Amino acid sequence: MESEKEALISDQPPIDRHRRSDGAPNPAFRFVVNTFFATLLVLGFQLGMRSVVWRVSNDVSSHCPHRLTYPGEKISWTPCGAIDDHELECATIDVPMDHFNKSNNARGKAFSIPLTRLRGKNATQNLLLNPGGPGGSGTEFISRRGAQLSAIVGENFHLLGFDPRGINKSRPLASCYPDFETRRRLSPVRSKKLVEDSGELFAWTANLVQACADNMGEHGAYINTPQTAADMNDILDAVGQDDMYYWGFSYGTLLGQTYATMFSDRTKRVIIDGVASQFDWYEETLDNEAIQDTDSVFEGFVDECIKAGPEKCALASLAKTKEALSEKLVSEIENLRDNPISVYINSTVYGIVDYWKVWHQVVFISLYRPAQWYATAEKLDSLLRGNATDIFLQIYAQENPFDTEEDAERFVTLNDGKSGPAPWPQDRGEAVSMMQSFFNQSLFADVYYPFYVSKRAWTAVPRTHGYVPRRGVKTAHPLLILSTTYDPVCPLISARGANAAFEGSRLVELKGYGHCSLAVPSLCITHYVRDFLLEGKLPDENARCDADGSPYFAKPDEGDKVTALAQFSDPEDRKIHLAQVKLAREVQFRWKF
Ligand SMILES: *[C@@H]1O[C@H](CO)[C@@H](O)[C@H](O)[C@H]1NC(C)=O
Ligand SMILES: *[C@@H]1O[C@H](CO)[C@@H](O)[C@H](O)[C@H]1NC(C)=O
Ligand SMILES: *[C@@H]1O[C@H](CO)[C@@H](O)[C@H](O)[C@H]1NC(C)=O
Ligand SMILES: *[C@@H]1O[C@H](CO)[C@@H](O)[C@H](O)[C@H]1NC(C)=O
Ligand SMILES: *[C@@H]1O[C@H](CO)[C@@H](O)[C@H](O)[C@H]1NC(C)=O
Ligand SMILES: *[C@@H]1O[C@H](CO)[C@@H](O)[C@H](O)[C@H]1NC(C)=O
Repeated sequence: MESEKEALISDQPPIDRHRRSDGAPNPAFRFVVNTFFATLLVLGFQLGMRSVVWRVSNDVSSHCPHRLTYPGEKISWTPCGAIDDHELECATIDVPMDHFNKSNNARGKAFSIPLTRLRGKNATQNLLLNPGGPGGSGTEFISRRGAQLSAIVGENFHLLGFDPRGINKSRPLASCYPDFETRRRLSPVRSKKLVEDSGELFAWTANLVQACADNMGEHGAYINTPQTAADMNDILDAVGQDDMYYWGFSYGTLLGQTYATMFSDRTKRVIIDGVASQFDWYEETLDNEAIQDTDSVFEGFVDECIKAGPEKCALASLAKTKEALSEKLVSEIENLRDNPISVYINSTVYGIVDYWKVWHQVVFISLYRPAQWYATAEKLDSLLRGNATDIFLQIYAQENPFDTEEDAERFVTLNDGKSGPAPWPQDRGEAVSMMQSFFNQSLFADVYYPFYVSKRAWTAVPRTHGYVPRRGVKTAHPLLILSTTYDPVCPLISARGANAAFEGSRLVELKGYGHCSLAVPSLCITHYVRDFLLEGKLPDENARCDADGSPYFAKPDEGDKVTALAQFSDPEDRKIHLAQVKLAREVQFRWKF
């Protein structure tokens, strides 16, 4: 069988003109993390950052010899389609494996970084984007969501998506298995019951982390956020741009904060949206902030459901108050722990619906997107009435045994953070109980269980960075920070923390529920974003935006256009609103956009 890496390397097709993807289905979860480490690397930063080996993706050229070059840029591009009459162009650059110690790059050790650019019609600057993860593909973000992003940002910027080192089409790819067959054979593990499954999970994880290290070799240690931040300078240099223009979502806010701390003099227009705490990420064992508001979003779900009534929320007829509905949902789903339901479609499609799947893969994930609440409520209602077919089909569609994104996420997160056994009790039982007291703070936190077990076991890959997040960081231009009021994984408190850490930065709170500003349509947010990007204009302190329309329990595909027409007389505003509605609706199974 062809090796997984080879198969992926040889396969780097240009993006289809009309490519559509509704997101990588996947059962796994975003592993929020936190972590720490302290070292002394900062001196290395200045040394390594300009040492890029330019390379343009050559496999595309054979069937498409036409090359595009632009004055001031150091690379050439290959046309790779169009989205809504905006041209797309693709290129690949190589970046050194280690930006901060050049002697580690002997024999040309490098990562390739694929780029996809959607050209703005009146643009001179490139806006770099990161969709989150870690593990999310920026090139795929452009091809999947470029139309809506460009409607929001406008014509004055090229949108530039890149696959961070180790991720998606970047090579070498962060992977813990040498090929698909090995992954299929060795990746399943039982990890649903905290105490009962801990023996198997801990033992399995000890092998996994060793396999991650062996499979990646030396490159594995350099898949981390400070290196990726330095890669972003190489991307800017390649397109001949001095100033960083950047909009990062979710994990992309960690990348943005890291960049702004390390390269504050190039930080001209950095937006972080759906903020994670970099202090937790790099310096803490457990991620305390990340779970802060998860349950509040769940409360929002039941509250809005009761308010919407049975017409719009199928679950509303099951209880009279939000408290009663919440209790009913929690106990009925809890009951699936010991009584999973079998669903049989036919001899190739069948499976079981259990607590872990319903609670984490359906309920938790839908907290990211209030626009999904209507559909989630319908499925939960059927389940509670004894029909698990629809919920099973959703879970089934999300499962993807060939997914490597989780590996990428593991490398970045565990390499960044305070990984390894030191802060944990030696004894497995005690380690589990330390995790458990953390999980007990939220109805959903045990979703991170397998993740913390691998964080504790992560010793085979050495930490190579010494980035330390700081407070009082002065950047060339202050940051714009966006957050919803209640974000299930990146709470407002973390946005406030970033606001306090970066001098002069301003925070805009989007009143509502969901992950990142894109979860809720709001023209007000778009105006702040555009004014900031174009003119560097910052909002007043304590700026807040309202959501447009009725984002909760609206029936899908009903009334979008009517709402937009009624609410917005300006055709540009209408276009933005429709793009936002579409983004908010997107089904997404991972912690990214
Ligand atoms: C840089 O890397 C070389 C080769 O791995 C190593 O010997 C040296 O100690 C490193 N320098 C620093 C400052 O870490
Ligand atoms: C085009 O870009 C220029 C320079 O950035 C700007 O002054 C002008 O307003 C833009 N025109 C439109 C139609 O956006
Ligand atoms: C790259 O991203 C696409 C879209 O999310 C996904 O389908 C594909 O599996 C990813 N490939 C890898 C190697 O991560
Ligand atoms: C089983 O059901 C799935 C999903 O509905 C369908 O795609 C598939 O063709 C069916 N297979 C057989 C053997 O009927
Ligand atoms: C369960 O739901 C599915 C999908 O909505 C439907 O096709 C099926 O008939 C239902 N089964 C029963 C027993 O009602
Ligand atoms: C966590 O909660 C469970 C269930 O309520 C309880 O049995 C357990 O003792 C708690 N564990 C810790 C460490 O708080």
